[in-house]
Amino acid sequence: MQPEKIGRYEIKSELGRGGMATVYHGYDPRFEREVAVKVLPPELIHADPQFRLRFEREAKIIAQLEHPAIVPVYDVGEENNQPYFVMRYVNGGSLSDRIKAGTFSVEAAVKLLEQIAPGLDEAHAKGIVHRDLKPSNILFTNNGVPLISDFGIATFTQGEAGSMTGSAIIGTPAYMAPEQANGEALDGRADIYALAVILYEMLTGKQPYQADTPLSLAIKHITDPVPHILETKANLPIWMEKVISTGMAKNRDERFSTAVEMVETIKAFQRGETPTEIKKHDRPTLKVSPFNKTFVSKKKRWRPLAMIAGFLVVILIGVGVFLFSGNMLPLGFETPFPTFTAALPIETSSPLIEATSSIGETAATAPTEVTIPTLPVIGGGDKIAFLRNNDIWVMNVDGSDLRSVTNDGVEKFNLEWLPDGQTLLYMAGKTVKTVDIDSLREEIIFSFISAEYFESFHVSPDGKQAAFSLARELYVVPFDLEKLSSATKKRELLAMDGCLFYNKIAVKDALWSDDGGKLAIKFLAPSNNVFADTIRIMDIKLCQDAEPIRLDEFPGARFRFNNEIINFDWNGDLLFFLNSNVRNGGFGDMGLYNTFTHKLEKLAPIEGYCCYRDATFSPDGTFVIFAFQDIRLGPDSSINLYYLPADTLSTSRTLESIPLPDGFFTRRNDTPLPAIRPAQK
Ligand SMILES: Nc1ncnc2c1ncn2[C@@H]1O[C@H](COP(=O)(O)OP(=O)(O)OP(=O)(O)O)[C@@H](O)[C@H]1O
Ligand SMILES: [Mg+2]
Repeated sequence: MQPEKIGRYEIKSELGRGGMATVYHGYDPRFEREVAVKVLPPELIHADPQFRLRFEREAKIIAQLEHPAIVPVYDVGEENNQPYFVMRYVNGGSLSDRIKAGTFSVEAAVKLLEQIAPGLDEAHAKGIVHRDLKPSNILFTNNGVPLISDFGIATFTQGEAGSMTGSAIIGTPAYMAPEQANGEALDGRADIYALAVILYEMLTGKQPYQADTPLSLAIKHITDPVPHILETKANLPIWMEKVISTGMAKNRDERFSTAVEMVETIKAFQRGETPTEIKKHDRPTLKVSPFNKTFVSKKKRWRPLAMIAGFLVVILIGVGVFLFSGNMLPLGFETPFPTFTAALPIETSSPLIEATSSIGETAATAPTEVTIPTLPVIGGGDKIAFLRNNDIWVMNVDGSDLRSVTNDGVEKFNLEWLPDGQTLLYMAGKTVKTVDIDSLREEIIFSFISAEYFESFHVSPDGKQAAFSLARELYVVPFDLEKLSSATKKRELLAMDGCLFYNKIAVKDALWSDDGGKLAIKFLAPSNNVFADTIRIMDIKLCQDAEPIRLDEFPGARFRFNNEIINFDWNGDLLFFLNSNVRNGGFGDMGLYNTFTHKLEKLAPIEGYCCYRDATFSPDGTFVIFAFQDIRLGPDSSINLYYLPADTLSTSRTLESIPLPDGFFTRRNDTPLPAIRPAQK
């Protein structure tokens, strides 16, 4: 029933109802003016005990927002448990009505954006995010001037839906940025995303994504590639693709940083220029190679910008998205990259890398009478060990001399070279074994059959310690084969008096730094009601069990990645490869994280396409080996190994894989886990 009065405001008629609120046409007798009164439902107050406090606080901030492009909020209050906003009465209809009446020309759309963009930016500068920007929230005055309405009001409605039950789920998420659909903390770039969706809709009359339910629509914003606007409307200028894909980039770092920047970019395109904003993504910025560890450690003042070498990428969100109602949504998805990244100039490798990369570089100083065949050396390594069909194989770095080292067909993991360069260490079930690559002699060095989990075992670079995760607890003990092979109980392991026993978090894996003074552990961290694999770098030099010094932790709040990090590798210094799981048990996206810049760069060197796994640094860090399975060729596509200079991975192009016999990998979900042996002196 329509109230007669709300506060001091006389109610004349109902203007309409949106997702949660009812808006009335009212009259303010004090200032003798027409007003619109927006009443939020009383459930909000009951559902959230903090609501009143927050409402008071945030309503004040919203009411301070003054801009000619924003519908002013005159007053806020509460009546009969119902919070309400009083705002200017704007009666020229909404953008939603206008789009229904017909699509906009590019010029008309730009004119509208131009009018509202400064208002949006001003709000963002004050830290206010709209959160519900959409055509029905852009209202026109009698004179046809567009104004943004409902600024920040969504904070009180959909923002709280997570803590409310069932019925209070948001309205249409057609304009919702991926990070918003994913329940993350928001900034103004969520509104930039919505603005790009609105532009898409003004020009085509359609929303970029369609789905049967709000939930699946939200998921499309998270997972589906940005649609090509020219496929919907072919007669648009071709640069509109770039405007939309930048505005709607899944990764907000890749979006326009302000609404005005978006408008300026469009105007530059209209003038026939290639605007700087778009160009900046194409700029190769690698001035020095952070991949060369010697270089980095000698000269710390390398430019952090180097690693932000960008191309427009789509960061994928992973398995297990938490959405509003607390539902877990296991997602598997595949997203090709925007194709224009392929137009990047091919980077040439730095002289530093070339010096170490030539195939066939040999131990030239070896006395001539010694007949040991010299091996090719690339990236400081000479042999590659890897798994294929559950068995270990080795070959030279150029693919020659391929041979198998085991042939028991038992599933293996955790493959690594021991410092002697002769022995490979690996795990099979809950047993750690070694095999000599020439004599093929195998040995069990440590077994812990009774443990529910025994997930990793890594020997320190000097060969003196082992870091392993047993029952999700981390042990760092002397690599004492005698003691290890006889230990069957936790007590015996603790009695080895190792450097560290750490069980405050669920540790799954631990890699060593080059100097042996740090560990990068992978552990399960609670995140949005699900558990997410997280990497933490710990300083263990002091061997203090209590709480090793934490040097960095990611993804966490640093960047978005998959909840499941199927594999990761460390160059022992600043850089990490992360691997998500998109399909076939672990082929997914390759991310390169720099602990100095704290940035993640998503890499897709093979023509910009998915899917990669097991990216591993070469011994000197200048090269990278990884497995690739082309998503374009379907789930049964073959697996190939690539060994490439690390600082060329930002460039997507056609590349040659290591020559292996045709169809060498037979299982589509094979896990090569390559390990490269440091070149033998
Ligand atoms: N300041 C205003 N002046 C005049 N009409 C308004 C004003 N604000 C909203 N309206 C009208 O009231 C109706 C309901 O608005 P409301 O904001 O509740 O819904 P919505 O914008 O569709 O969705 P949401 O609740 O997500 O904002 C709409 O038809 C809208 O055009
Ligand atoms: Mg509205």
